[in-house]
Amino acid sequence: MNAEIFLQVDNYISDLLAKEDKALTDTIQSLDKEGLPQHSVSANQGKFLQVMMIACNAKKVLELGTLGGYSTIWLARALPDNGKVITIEVDKHHGEVAQKNIDNAGLSSKVDLRVGKAMDILPEIIKKNEEPFDMIFIDADKPPYTEYFNYALQLSRPGTLIICDNVIREGKILDKNSADEKVQGVQRLNKMLSENKNVTATILQTVGAKEYDGIAIAVVNRI
Ligand SMILES: C[S@@+](CC[C@H](N)C(=O)[O-])C[C@H]1O[C@@H](n2cnc3c(N)ncnc32)[C@H](O)[C@@H]1O
Repeated sequence: MNAEIFLQVDNYISDLLAKEDKALTDTIQSLDKEGLPQHSVSANQGKFLQVMMIACNAKKVLELGTLGGYSTIWLARALPDNGKVITIEVDKHHGEVAQKNIDNAGLSSKVDLRVGKAMDILPEIIKKNEEPFDMIFIDADKPPYTEYFNYALQLSRPGTLIICDNVIREGKILDKNSADEKVQGVQRLNKMLSENKNVTATILQTVGAKEYDGIAIAVVNRI
């Protein structure tokens, strides 16, 4: 087994089940054109998010970390007509590129893109006492993942799905002495998930078009 077979199988799956259209391929191309990193989820991971949304009948979704809007487009496309994605992005330029891609995909009415630090915007959303979210996708900076998760819990109801990307980091999470703050951030989150009685959680390893990594999935039991 090697990376090549994982890539070929990922392409096989996406050809079958997660075909990208022009709005999605344009979004990926816009990252290179605009100098953004190629850190979007893969097509199959985008489809995975849609499957999770449909499983929990999601009408209201929160995303932390928009980048160029690739995952946002997958999320928004799985919403019913009256559904909404709020997506938070700290970088102004990323936000501008994402907004163009979301507009280009015809999804402007379904996506509320907020530019600012997640750590500032989350308490603002909590203060407004909005209806809880049905699904929350955490894909922003890794060191405060535990804090983001705790905010996400405050914006949840029993049954809300909270999904956190990049929590295995090529297996570096096994290194208890890692000095990498991204690794430390997700180690802290993974440990918290193992102890938190308010959620039922697991982690799936991911291979394929992206680096070897993992996605944590938690369902909220109680608030
Ligand atoms: C992995 S990328 C997101 C990829 C995107 N979800 C996708 O799959 O298309 C992470 C994004 O989080 C943003 N980010 C980093 N720190 C942030 C913060 N404190 N608040 C909000 N966004 C942040 C980065 O600027 C970057 O655009």
